[in-house]
Amino acid sequence: MARITASVYTSHVPAIGAALDHGKAHEPYWQPVFAGYEYSKQWLREHMPDVVFLVYNDHATAFSLELIPTFALGTGAQFPIADEGWGPRPVPSVIGHPELASHIAQSVIQDDFDLTLVNRMEVDHGLTVPLSLMCGQPEAWPFKVIPFAVNVVQYPVPSGRRCFQLGQAIRRAIESYDEPLNVQIWGTGGMSHQLQGPRAGLINAEWDNRFLDRLIEDPAGLSHVPHIEYVREAGSEGIELVMWLIARGAMADVAGGPKPRVAHRFYHVPASNTAVGHLILENAA
Ligand code: DHB
Ligand code: FE
Repeated sequence: MARITASVYTSHVPAIGAALDHGKAHEPYWQPVFAGYEYSKQWLREHMPDVVFLVYNDHATAFSLELIPTFALGTGAQFPIADEGWGPRPVPSVIGHPELASHIAQSVIQDDFDLTLVNRMEVDHGLTVPLSLMCGQPEAWPFKVIPFAVNVVQYPVPSGRRCFQLGQAIRRAIESYDEPLNVQIWGTGGMSHQLQGPRAGLINAEWDNRFLDRLIEDPAGLSHVPHIEYVREAGSEGIELVMWLIARGAMADVAGGPKPRVAHRFYHVPASNTAVGHLILENAA
């Protein structure tokens, strides 16, 4: 049986990827950001999964106003790196796990969540920056990745409650897969940031840290926070944080198991226009 052993949460700022790709990670502006992931890279080497189920959002790269899937599951064998305007990032392409992804599609859709299935898709910074933060700059990503793209760009976006319930269905799906795979689920995007309008540059460290506290201690209660609170308190792009509730919903305690262990917590302001938040939660063995 496959098992979800841990969940990882992290922001996905594109400039972080550019800093790494252009050898600027040791500059004074970036050093504190990457320092927050030093422990995480070591932790990942010691807790290497077979597959990462990576919840992220596409930024009008693979999708656009022509096609807006709320929840899109990557069932393909491979996902090329997107060109977001400066050429594709110089990182390895993403290798999928079509067998597990097809099983998840079967299970989650029969469990009443109507997913979109994507066999061909390029992946943008929403997916590649979390990989870079956790893995550094390897020749090939050290595990398979099932991309799961959530629409948090064009209203209406899914509620935190729906995301949390979906995470529970994803857990049921993964844990009914008949092969002993070590699976991690990552929730990415956020924390507070607003890239547009008069409030551009908004950061709310107090709200972000309360979100981290509640994600650990009270995810069910947190899942009832309405969209308007994310946008008011964490800025228009702060809504990306609903994706963290998918990963949190897939942890064992939500299904009556033991509480997860907090392996790592990090918060730093700013990276580009964004507050960087990061958390690693481990399920009991
Ligand atoms: C920034 C953050 C994002 O989440 C994003 O998708 C694009 C830009 C930023 O802080 O610059
Ligand atoms: Fe984003």
